[in-house]
Amino acid sequence: MLGKDILGLRDLAAEDIDEILSLALNMKKLLRQNIKKLPHLMGKSAAMLFYENSTRTRCSFELAAKYMGAHVLNLAVATSSVQKGETLVDTGKTLDAMRCDVIVIRHPMGGAPKLLAQTVQAHVVNAGDGMNEHPTQALLDMLTMRERWGDVKGKTVAILGDIRHSRVAKSNLYGLTKLGAEVRMYAPKTLLPPGLEEVGAKICRSREEAAEGADAVMGLRIQLERQHAGNFPSLGEYAKYYGVDADVLKYAKEGALVMHPGPVNRGVELSSAVIDGDTSVIEDQVLSGIAVRMAILFLLTKEEVA
Ligand code: NCD
Repeated sequence: MLGKDILGLRDLAAEDIDEILSLALNMKKLLRQNIKKLPHLMGKSAAMLFYENSTRTRCSFELAAKYMGAHVLNLAVATSSVQKGETLVDTGKTLDAMRCDVIVIRHPMGGAPKLLAQTVQAHVVNAGDGMNEHPTQALLDMLTMRERWGDVKGKTVAILGDIRHSRVAKSNLYGLTKLGAEVRMYAPKTLLPPGLEEVGAKICRSREEAAEGADAVMGLRIQLERQHAGNFPSLGEYAKYYGVDADVLKYAKEGALVMHPGPVNRGVELSSAVIDGDTSVIEDQVLSGIAVRMAILFLLTKEEVA
């Protein structure tokens, strides 16, 4: 059974991941049938507290909550009391006092969701904290894989690009290895943090080595907002040596999935042809996102439903 909050996959048990993915798979089937009116969150309120830009994650959480009948509160941080100097903890306490059942938070600082979770009664879901974790993104990636493969156990996933600044890569590493997949990583040395091997990653010396026989190849957006210039020579070089294109896919298994959390810089992390290619599942990842978030919101709040 899930705990009070979803803060990351590093601390989530394999059985919990399994429970979320199993329910999310059913939710996804309903979404495919265009069923978008479910009672699971009726009478509940979910607050979206986004301190960082977002399109798909915020919209996805909002729709997931609305499809299950919740009241959704969108806090525009740029025009809220945060601008008057209110602390995160005080904002959280205010949402608690307003009887919010769930707070979905994105924050540029790693650890902010944990701090909030420790101080509020509401369930807290991490929608991305700095360079730390983005658990629902990794779960939606795993749902996309599981739907196609049945199981991720024994599969190989290659993750290429700006690993250091990527919370998506880290959550995928924790989650996929817990479920028995092999995770290979390749990045410029300047964009590869230490300690990944200790948590199960196989660090590769070229993108071809990473892609060799892989079942899925995942590109990552260069997180320009989190770094200073000089970590790689130019965008052209990044695309050539660390990007996903037809040349590198020749090394992967036939029909290997091409994945990206979005937003994509076309022609940088992924070539345009690959984004629109037959094995690209980028749009399906978006649908998986709503399904995973529906499952999480329901599982976190369900004991309270009469
Ligand atoms: C990711 C994020 O915000 O971490 N995007 C997302 O949630 N879909 C990846 C990114 O911004 O590059």
